[in-house]
Amino acid sequence: MGTLFGLGLAAQLGALLAIVLVTRSIYRLYFSPLAKFPGPKLAALTSLYEGYYDCFKEGGGRYHVEINRMHDKYGPIIRINPWELHIRDPDWNEVYKITRRAYKPLCHRMRREAINSYFSPSAVAKYQPVVEELVRKLIHRLAEFKDTGEAVRLDDAFRALATDGATAFAFRRPFGHLDSPDFEHVGNRGVRMLGYLGALNRITKGFVLWALRSLMPAWVALGINPGSLGVQGFYKGEAAADLGHQILNSNLPAEEKTLNLIKRESSAVALAGTESTGSTITVTAYCLLSQPEKAARLRTELKQAYENCGRPPTYQELKELPYLVRRLVASWCVQAANMMYRGLVIPKGTYVSTTQNDTHFCADIFPDPHTFCPERWLDGADRKRLSKYLVPFGRGARSCIGMDIALTEIYLCLTRLFSPEAGFRLELHDTDYDMDVHFYHDFFSPFPKSKKGIKAFIK
Ligand code: HEM
Repeated sequence: MGTLFGLGLAAQLGALLAIVLVTRSIYRLYFSPLAKFPGPKLAALTSLYEGYYDCFKEGGGRYHVEINRMHDKYGPIIRINPWELHIRDPDWNEVYKITRRAYKPLCHRMRREAINSYFSPSAVAKYQPVVEELVRKLIHRLAEFKDTGEAVRLDDAFRALATDGATAFAFRRPFGHLDSPDFEHVGNRGVRMLGYLGALNRITKGFVLWALRSLMPAWVALGINPGSLGVQGFYKGEAAADLGHQILNSNLPAEEKTLNLIKRESSAVALAGTESTGSTITVTAYCLLSQPEKAARLRTELKQAYENCGRPPTYQELKELPYLVRRLVASWCVQAANMMYRGLVIPKGTYVSTTQNDTHFCADIFPDPHTFCPERWLDGADRKRLSKYLVPFGRGARSCIGMDIALTEIYLCLTRLFSPEAGFRLELHDTDYDMDVHFYHDFFSPFPKSKKGIKAFIK
């Protein structure tokens, strides 16, 4: 084969690659519409910077820490990769006014409309007895450990409740994790792994998930993670009134109703509703158990509510009680038109992200933010001022469609668990806040440093 300038083919390809990389780097650093925004040059140059923190640094999921360091150094708006800006500013809420998501931007509104009525207040109200039943099952299962001296993994137990809750809602039948002897521990561990794989998938531009899906036969997946058995059997014999049928009977165009899209949408709802709700109940229960005076205050309030109602209070009645903790998730959008941030134009089409943690843990707004302090919500004027900054479910057109389902599960579970109805008390065991509870890894959902979980004796 002939050569150019006396170079062999491999050298020619190498030179071409080098030219492409250098040109791209110069563009990203000096000519990209985002070049004017501050941040480390390496982050502007390549997504491998983010990938390193997401996948490797301290076990992965640590870019949130680096992003905060970057904000401390460069200010409230920074460039965190070649095509994305991040804003840390509790008073900037433009992000919630955008109606388009970063992915499937064209049809998000249409798809949301198609499932809206499935999540209507009356549909959620009808679902309350199902949650009651699942909570009863959870309490029954926990009671099996009473005075046995065997500690229970509460995080697994609450994730099992949330998984059964979300799948019962979406598919009209629960996965059955509450029936599993260890509350499907392996499946729960798989969710953490899934978050990590998601990060690996991003830096390999989709290769990791493609390879896993294409190369791993179902029986191997089952061998590695028996918890996926539920997922494998997901769509067999589903009820006619489930979310899949809701999509099928909606006004969406036919190309939006393929089996694959319906499966994806339905499992996205189930996934969205499991880890978020499970970890919220887990952390709230930990906070209550580690601060007995708060748990006592909740118990007193519950006792009063039970007496007033003459029966276990419903979700609607519980909504009036002030002891609640909300979990923090990131919000992410792509914006359709030019947008301003404090006089700076953010060009059309730029990915813009904010992190709700930044607001929820901002000491200027919530003094001593890492302290569990339901009392900060008791005063009416404080509540009004602080509510503006409490956004665990997002806001606007992309906010959480499952908020009432989550709150139904959270309130009913915590209430029944901390009321005399439970017939037992939980006592924390071998659980350390920094290692086992505190948000350390961002794997789509917040995870603590250790995998040990939150344990309790049932007494
Ligand atoms: C404590 C529990 C929960 C929290 C903190 C939470 C939080 C959120 C947040 C912040 C978003 C918006 C994300 C964005 O900006 O793109 C969201 C979206 C969503 N959530 Fe939740 N969620 C919870 C529970 C649930 C439950 C139980 C379900 C369903 C059973 C659910 C289903 C969804 C769905 C389908 C979306 C996407 C909505 C859309 O794209 O229009 N979530 N959630």
